[in-house]
Amino acid sequence: MGNILHIISSARGESSNSILLGNRIVEKLRQRHPDKEVVVNDVAGQSWEWLHTNLVNAYRTPPDALTSEQLTLLETSDMAVAQLQAADIVVIGVPLYNFNIPAPLKAWIDHVVRPAKTVTYKDGRPAGMLSGKKAYLAIASNGIYSEGPMAAFDFAAPYLRYMLEFLGIPDVTTYRIEGAGMTATRETAVEKGLASVESL
Ligand SMILES: Cc1cc2nc3c(=O)[nH]c(=O)nc-3n(C[C@H](O)[C@H](O)[C@H](O)COP(=O)(O)O)c2cc1C
Repeated sequence: MGNILHIISSARGESSNSILLGNRIVEKLRQRHPDKEVVVNDVAGQSWEWLHTNLVNAYRTPPDALTSEQLTLLETSDMAVAQLQAADIVVIGVPLYNFNIPAPLKAWIDHVVRPAKTVTYKDGRPAGMLSGKKAYLAIASNGIYSEGPMAAFDFAAPYLRYMLEFLGIPDVTTYRIEGAGMTATRETAVEKGLASVESL
């Protein structure tokens, strides 16, 4: 049996709507799967290596040819991959920043997309190696993106859905606390977002 992995990418702690929403999703999942362990990875609280040449080269080096320096360099990535492999449900908290995901969440993605470990190619096409998992996105934004004129400008949800599919996780459900910065919806945004999870 796999874990529930909760990825947090807001640094706003108790003020964070994506953490609040992600926690509610995890709570609901725990009601259905009380035996599952919840593992939290706060990616906003870590400093990440960018995809510099040494890291990319380490990703591409066969395991038995890795130097000790490369093994050290790969520790964070290996840990993030192991957490993902051990989960059968992944909840990703996403504060919308400049219409996209925060940099630490992008860094986490750059550390879990690993050739021959999480993604391979079959017949020239990408074949994600993390099959059999379910993912939930908990997106927080000041504007409204689930419908209306701004819907085309949320690049976070389509990007994350595609990356999860690329990794072999096409089953993705999105929940939102949205409109939290708009006069007409400010008062009800949190309540409405949390209520949407009730049907889970
Ligand atoms: C640097 C920055 C960029 C933001 N960009 C957007 C944006 O493009 N669209 C939007 O609707 N809200 C934007 N917001 C508002 C956040 O999405 C909102 O505060 C959300 O609640 C953040 O998630 P959190 O509460 O989990 O930290 C931005 C906030 C910050 C600090």
